[in-house]
Amino acid sequence: MKTKTKIFTAAISLSVAFFSAQNKTIKAHFLDLDATSTNIKIQPTMYGIFFEDINFAADGGLYAELIKNRSFEFDEPLTGWKQPNTKTLSPNLDSGFLTIITDKSKTNKNYARITVWNDENYVLENEGFRGIGLHQGEKYDLSFNLENVSGNISAVNTSLIDENGTVISSVSTIIKGGGWQKYNAVFAPSKTVEKAKLQITFTGKGVVNMDMISLFPQDTWKGRKGGLRKDLVQKLYDLQPGFLRFPGGCIVEGRTLAERYQWKKTIGKVENRENLINKWNNGFAHRLTPDYWQSFGLGFFEYFQLAEDLGAEPLPILSCGMACQFNTAELVKMEDLDPYVQDALDLIEFANGDSNTKWGKIRTEMGHPKPFNMKFIGVGNEQWGADYIERYKVFEKAIHTKYPDIKIISGSGPSPDGEFFDYGWKELKKLNAQIVDEHYYNSPEWFLKNADRYDKYDRRGPKVFAGEYAAQSVGVVKPDNKNNWLTALSEAAFMTGLERNADVVTMTSYAPLFAHAEGWQWTPDLIWFNNLESYATPNYYVQQLFSLNKGTDLLQITENGQPLTGQDKLYASAVSDTVTGEYIIKIVNADAQAKTIQLNAKSLKINSVMTKVILTAPYLTTENSFDKELIQPRTESQNINKGKIITKIPANSFVILKLKSL
Ligand code: AHR
Repeated sequence: MKTKTKIFTAAISLSVAFFSAQNKTIKAHFLDLDATSTNIKIQPTMYGIFFEDINFAADGGLYAELIKNRSFEFDEPLTGWKQPNTKTLSPNLDSGFLTIITDKSKTNKNYARITVWNDENYVLENEGFRGIGLHQGEKYDLSFNLENVSGNISAVNTSLIDENGTVISSVSTIIKGGGWQKYNAVFAPSKTVEKAKLQITFTGKGVVNMDMISLFPQDTWKGRKGGLRKDLVQKLYDLQPGFLRFPGGCIVEGRTLAERYQWKKTIGKVENRENLINKWNNGFAHRLTPDYWQSFGLGFFEYFQLAEDLGAEPLPILSCGMACQFNTAELVKMEDLDPYVQDALDLIEFANGDSNTKWGKIRTEMGHPKPFNMKFIGVGNEQWGADYIERYKVFEKAIHTKYPDIKIISGSGPSPDGEFFDYGWKELKKLNAQIVDEHYYNSPEWFLKNADRYDKYDRRGPKVFAGEYAAQSVGVVKPDNKNNWLTALSEAAFMTGLERNADVVTMTSYAPLFAHAEGWQWTPDLIWFNNLESYATPNYYVQQLFSLNKGTDLLQITENGQPLTGQDKLYASAVSDTVTGEYIIKIVNADAQAKTIQLNAKSLKINSVMTKVILTAPYLTTENSFDKELIQPRTESQNINKGKIITKIPANSFVILKLKSL
């Protein structure tokens, strides 16, 4: 398909016609699709993923480790562990007990010392993350580090038990020699269980030290040992995201500076990665999650690797020396900012440096000699005010002096308007910032009203990264928010505005991404999961439809010469795809009435069959669930009669029309 020359203009009459369908009169809208190239490219990064370890997204979710607090590092080192009597399952410390030994000079500070007096009765049990999810027919790798201290303990017996305490797989491991050793065993559960537990008993009496008690499915994403949960990565893969933003979100900033995300502590051997309390552990009084920590098993190397697997640009966001301004708002003094800036420079070397560089060598040793070819970096997450601008300037200068080609994402605060937002934008514009991150969590009505938000943006200013957005059915941070069809439909309407302004908006991502059905703090979220399964929300399908149909070149679609930004509750955007040779038209009808649209395609050299993808729901309140994804795209074909394209856009629907050029 040629895009530089005028291919066609679907010129049409501007009068309104009425069609009779199913005994109802439906108003027809005559749309102009101008296939003349706008010379605006849709960036490959247009639709991406925002990942943050909130709602058990990493530990308890994507990171497939099934044992919570595997190395006893939580502030309460026995979180997740119990010592019930083997028979009565009530605590019985007469038969044995566990103490925690701490070595503060180490990053993995704690280990358990287990004293067994009565091996008939002593048991140590881990509850997993709201249980341990096990699939019948799959295999699970158990490993633990053990030092035989004294006595005659000859075996460690491990069992997986179901909700009723019935053993569904067990294995005995013979203990040999002294000193710390790593032991491995494999489980093959006899049934599928959502909330299993791991039980450990001992043969013999004595004292052993144990650490890093770990359980992983063998069937992880790409079969990597100690890897990621396959079904969840698959859902990300199916989005064909243009970028992967990580590791957040407010988690980057931390509640305090000490609790900020420090990427250097998340690489190297997994057992040496220092655990840290998760910011969302006590983020909301109404959803306290005291057992939420970060093991960093999913660390920066794994994030880069995931981005590579997904074919997405890696987009790390780093602390700029400001702790979350909603929490402690701790600030690093300007004269103490150097280590933070150095972290950014070192990260670029870690990702892109060759194996002879200090950080490139570490990446190589971790198994990835080839650079990750990182192109973007974010400075701060959701910061605001003069303190941010002052710090951003230092980062910008240091990064661009050493790495002029790296694109820097700066932030405009937590709101899409207001004093902080205006100030941030004004200052960042003056500084010729490259890409500014905007966040908006707002009502569906706001999304419907703001589809023209970027029509007014300065075409010569910084590009926009709509880095976090989601329609809130009740209100921001309200626990009753739902991922219902109204929220998804309003996001789709808004997204036509993002796409229509693809010369300004070059990156977008819904947030947050994941939520564990029992371990969440924030709702709504794009993908919900439990220990066995996951489901895609209607919002997910909206994201997917935009991403899979992003095309390569922006086209203009208008009615009466105007873009469709909600007139008669219709919204539209259009692109062509020079690779597939398609014209792709996205239309949202946010009205309770169906509409008919007519595109005159006389001058188009197109196939006589149009593909129509429809996403809709019985009600605006309809949701998907583990039981059923009621809202999913369905595809129809429609014959094009004598070049005339007349088609129905159902009430409250998002429709994609695909025309294939000959
Ligand atoms: O997406 C949840 C949170 O919302 C993010 O961590 C933060 O950046 C925003 O306030």
